[in-house]
Amino acid sequence: MKILFLDQSGQLGGAELCLTEIAKPYRDRCLVCLFTDGPFRQALEQEHIPVQILATQPLQVRKDSGWVQGISSLRQLLPLVARVVQLSREFDLIYANTQKALVVGALASLISRRPLVYHLHDILSLEHFSPTNRQLAVTLANRCASRVFATSEAAQAAFIQAGGCPERVEVVYNGFDPTLYQCDRAQTERIKQELGLQSKFLVGHFSRLSPWKGQHVLLKALQYCAEDVTAIFVGDALYGEQAYAQELHSQVAELGLQERARFLGFRYDVVPLMYACDAIAHTSIAPEPFGRVIAEAMLCERPVIAAQAGGAVELIEPGVTGLLVPPEDSETLASAINFCRKQQEWVRAIAQKAKIQASQRFHQNAINRQIAHLLDQIPIHTQSKPKAREHLKEPQSLIPPNPLNKGG
Ligand code: UDP
Ligand code: GLC
Repeated sequence: MKILFLDQSGQLGGAELCLTEIAKPYRDRCLVCLFTDGPFRQALEQEHIPVQILATQPLQVRKDSGWVQGISSLRQLLPLVARVVQLSREFDLIYANTQKALVVGALASLISRRPLVYHLHDILSLEHFSPTNRQLAVTLANRCASRVFATSEAAQAAFIQAGGCPERVEVVYNGFDPTLYQCDRAQTERIKQELGLQSKFLVGHFSRLSPWKGQHVLLKALQYCAEDVTAIFVGDALYGEQAYAQELHSQVAELGLQERARFLGFRYDVVPLMYACDAIAHTSIAPEPFGRVIAEAMLCERPVIAAQAGGAVELIEPGVTGLLVPPEDSETLASAINFCRKQQEWVRAIAQKAKIQASQRFHQNAINRQIAHLLDQIPIHTQSKPKAREHLKEPQSLIPPNPLNKGG
């Protein structure tokens, strides 16, 4: 099967890292189209996955945009749709990764009559989306997508609750190659030395800097932790949330945590950094759709303390493969960190169990088999469009249907 993948972002976010693994087995018969250039393109090229950048300007619509912004973005959208229509003629299926890709993919699929798969990496709740955007996603998915892959049961449930068609949606977890989550002791020691934090109890936070990822919750928790507890924050403000990054620095100064909090920016060496940590904190204040970082920490055999919501609840069995604490509760988070610091043997045992479980549940090969199986069930029409629609052939002359008039 030849697949045309669409993704809105040029950044290396979780949805993009997930897509890289999905596209690998199709690298000789797929194309990944991005709506913005960035490090994601380089990552795909490194994996020899064909990639093309379709736009020079990021789409101006955001998750919280309303109708007015949506309508004004149509001018940007239409050339993208036209290009995707044109490209899709060479492919059997359009695979839209995330929401803006869904909008473009849905319109293109209506015109080119290629089936559409929507990979939903979000929880379509009002915490994350404006009512307009949520309705748009559900309407387009119901009308245009043959299949919706939800990144977790939480994402699936929110989709259905928002009016999404239950028969069409299937949970497809992120997949990981466990062999990539190994690190020898020498490398771990080297990283610890580089950080100059050998004698500390190191808590890692691996996430882009964004208010809903809740880095501030961990900073606040440090106040209630033993003196030697130090946190590293790995990740950058990928989607223009620099103001939050500034707030975090101010919080560090206000709380006098300069010696106990380090911001390392975006890093490509997440695995050795995780190995250097004694525990990993995941502090999202809105339900995390899946949480790759949680699965990765488990694969690195590190104890995870996560906010009890969304995908985290599906990934972690509390007290067995990790710890769950109420979201935004810094004091309970601190107690859990102090507990891990005191009960290191017990914690090692749960981390071992977590590694075994994650290697089985989220194994890349199993997830890729599941995806191949689901895609195989989709009827593919490889022949070109029926004659009656021949006049639509020239993409430049297309005026795709306005999604905003679709109702539903
Ligand atoms: N990540 C990374 N470098 C960083 C911070 C994060 O490579 O400096 C990776 C991390 O290992 C994970 C992904 O970014 O694979 C984040 O995905 P997740 O699902 O946890 O959250 P998202 O940001 O997609 O909501
Ligand atoms: C999104 C979600 C994250 C998830 C990732 C991969 O970026 O925010 O929770 O892990 O997609 O599905």
